[in-house]
Amino acid sequence: MLKAVELSKRYEDGHLALDALNLEIKSGEIFFLLGANGAGKTTTINLFLNFIEPSSGQVLINDIDVVKNPLETKKYVSFVSENVMLYGNFSARQNLDFFAKLGGKKDLTKQDYYNVMRSVGLQEAAFEKKLKTFSKGMRQKVGLAIAIIKDADNIILDEPTSGLDPKSASELMQILINLKNTGKSILMCTHDIFRAKTVADRVGIMKEGRLVMLRDKEQFLTDDLEKIYLNYMQEAVMFNDTTSKI
Ligand SMILES: Nc1ncnc2c1ncn2[C@@H]1O[C@H](COP(=O)(O)OP(=O)(O)OP(=O)(O)O)[C@@H](O)[C@H]1O
Ligand SMILES: [Mg+2]
Repeated sequence: MLKAVELSKRYEDGHLALDALNLEIKSGEIFFLLGANGAGKTTTINLFLNFIEPSSGQVLINDIDVVKNPLETKKYVSFVSENVMLYGNFSARQNLDFFAKLGGKKDLTKQDYYNVMRSVGLQEAAFEKKLKTFSKGMRQKVGLAIAIIKDADNIILDEPTSGLDPKSASELMQILINLKNTGKSILMCTHDIFRAKTVADRVGIMKEGRLVMLRDKEQFLTDDLEKIYLNYMQEAVMFNDTTSKI
C-alpha cells in the first residue's frame, strides 16, 4: 500500500512542487498519474522513495512512515525509472544477480534469472551480454526484471514506456496487469493516456503540484479521458494567460 497524507514539497528555491497530496494506492491496484511536464509527478515518486524529504505531510509504504523508517520501507518498494541505473560492464544476468543479492535474495540460480528475463521479453541472445551494449528499451526490461525479482509489495514506475517500441510497451503493460493480479500496488507516472484508458484501475491528473482529478475505471471509461485531460490543461493555459496580462 502506498499512501500520501497532506504531502507537500517546497524545493530550496521556494518552488512549491507538490501541494497537499492525499492519495492511497491499495493492493491489487494500478494507479496512473498523468500531468504536464513539471506538474509534480516525479517529485511525488521521489518522496515515496525517500530520495527527497517532504516539507510537510506524511508518506507511507505498507503503513510505515518513509521519513522515519527509510531502510524498512525500501524493502517493500521497487522502482523502475525511465533511465534505469545499471552496471555497464556487467552482463544482464550479472546485473540481476548483483541487485538480487543486494536485496537479500541469495539462492537464485542462473535459470531463475533467465526465466525472469524471458518474462519481460528480453531476447535470449542478450542475457549474457554487457549492459553497455544495450538499447534503452533493453535496459528498461532489465530494470523491470530486477523489480520483479525483488518481489516487493509496491512497484513505482516513472514513465517506463518512454523509449519503448509499441510491442515492448504493450508487453510491459501486460506484465503490470499480471503483477497487480498477484496483489501488488502499482503507481505509474506517464504521459500515455491511451495506456491509462486500457490498463489503469484509477487515474489521477496532477496540475501545478495539485491532484486536480481522480477517477476510477467506470468513471473514465464512460467519460472521455483525453477530453478531460485536455480540459484541465486548457484551464492551465487560460490561467497563465490571465496572469501574464496582469
Ligand atoms: N531539485 C529541484 N529543485 C527545484 N525545483 C525542482 C527540483 N526538482 C523539480 N523541481 C521543480 O518542481 C516541479 C515539478 O517537477 P517534477 O519533476 O516533479 O515534474 P514532473 O511532473 O515529473 O514532470 P515531467 O513530466 O517533465 O517529468 C517543476 O517545476 C520542477 O522545475
Ligand atoms: Mg517526471
